[in-house]
Amino acid sequence: MKATNGYSGVQIALHWLVAVLIIVAWFTGEGADEALDMIEDGGVAGFVPHVAVGLAILALVLVRLLVRLSRGAPAAPGVPGSWQVAAADWGHRLIYLLMIAVPLGGISVFFLGLEVGDMHELAANALMLIVLGHALVALYHQYVLKDGLLRRMMKAG
Ligand code: HEM
Ligand code: HEM
Repeated sequence: MKATNGYSGVQIALHWLVAVLIIVAWFTGEGADEALDMIEDGGVAGFVPHVAVGLAILALVLVRLLVRLSRGAPAAPGVPGSWQVAAADWGHRLIYLLMIAVPLGGISVFFLGLEVGDMHELAANALMLIVLGHALVALYHQYVLKDGLLRRMMKAG
């Protein structure tokens, strides 16, 4: 992948938009659970915010992945080859994987009727825990190491 000097405006906008949507999706999961119960009881579910938000996340993450693969991203700060840089790279890959796998799991439950609701919830909780760690590391860089890391996700470079 190409190493760039900074994230583009599109990459930054997608980062924060998807972050907000993931938090909304996480808090609205129960609504989808209830809609599913209505459908199973022979009723029809109307507009389901969780499903709409979840599908939007999947679409935006696929765009984001294509942008990242074609445009590239800045190398993680730190000594090349160090465990910190490897942890950042693999951590970001794991987040991408979960941002795709979690909505696909939701689709399997809601549209395909597969009984993988527990796995979907477990993977969603894992995603939330990992991004919580991710945010804490970002804040540690910004306020303890004072290396201005947050600026990379604020201002296009
Ligand atoms: C659901 C919430 C979040 C998700 C899914 C997420 C995901 C990601 C991913 C995948 C990257 C890699 C760059 C890319 O390809 O876009 C990234 C970078 C970054 N994130 Fe987040 N993020 C979230 C929340 C946050 C929060 C709350 C903060 C700040 C407190 C933050 C700060 C950053 C920074 C500073 C970078 C750039 C790191 C670098 O320069 O290498 N993120 N994020
Ligand atoms: C990143 C995106 C998503 C996140 C973070 C997420 C998160 C969650 C969480 C935490 C739950 C458990 C709620 C509870 O029972 O208390 C849940 C349930 C559910 N979600 Fe999602 N979800 C996402 C995407 C989707 C999508 C795209 C769909 C459907 C197209 C979907 C459909 C469902 C369904 C049907 C349930 C109920 C599962 C069951 O109890 O059997 N989700 N989701």
